[in-house]
Amino acid sequence: MSGLTARRTIKKGQLPKELSASDVQALAQPFDGRFFYFPRSSSHAACIRDGAVAAYKAQSRRDDAQRELSHWMRLGNGEAREKRDGLTSDSMEVQGLTGWFLRTFMDRESVMSDGFRTRGVDLTAELADQGAGWVIITSPGAGPADLLETGRRFERMALLATELKLAIHPMTQQIEEEKWRRDIAGRHAPDMLPQFILRVGYVDEYPAPVSLRRPVSWFLRS
Ligand SMILES: Cc1cc2nc3c(=O)[nH]c(=O)nc-3n(C[C@H](O)[C@H](O)[C@H](O)COP(=O)(O)O)c2cc1C
Repeated sequence: MSGLTARRTIKKGQLPKELSASDVQALAQPFDGRFFYFPRSSSHAACIRDGAVAAYKAQSRRDDAQRELSHWMRLGNGEAREKRDGLTSDSMEVQGLTGWFLRTFMDRESVMSDGFRTRGVDLTAELADQGAGWVIITSPGAGPADLLETGRRFERMALLATELKLAIHPMTQQIEEEKWRRDIAGRHAPDMLPQFILRVGYVDEYPAPVSLRRPVSWFLRS
């Protein structure tokens, strides 16, 4: 187990260089074979990339999904400090003047606007084309214990990735949206249960963690 206590998601700036065999092996290590890497040059990677953009677009048009997203936005500085969870301008990697604009002028209702949704789709299309390739992580079953265990292993892998300075960006909309879930199920064996779709890659500069973390005492009773 890694000694690091913080890991981070890195969306922007993933380089178009495929992962080395040793880095693939290192990332796969927590998963007992339930880790599948598709380098960007493979046809499977192109299929995952196109699906990621299409599913994101469909989800962003669904008002209930967009509303749920808006509830996790911590656009004002005060709300971010108070709740210490959710998506801040820093964790969305929106920096500089645009970050300031977001924190100062945007609110929950702005997230529901056509402009916000369209910008999200455009950014997703741009990002989906970056990086070394894609990783699919599956679980042995679909029960709560399987999901919790797969999540634990994901966290272990994410800490390893931080040590190795590898960027990981989960893009999970294809397994959240019914149409794509059915499509994936129709093309694979019934025991292929995808739980994570990750874009992975090298970056020139590995940034420090930025996400807010709640103190353990806020959500754990002894
Ligand atoms: C389990 C998990 C699933 C996520 N799924 C997505 C996703 O589907 N699309 C996306 O753009 N970001 C996704 N993210 C990234 C978050 O939007 C956010 O940027 C990130 O968690 C920032 O915090 P971190 O650096 O502590 O990971 C996901 C993150 C986690 C941990």
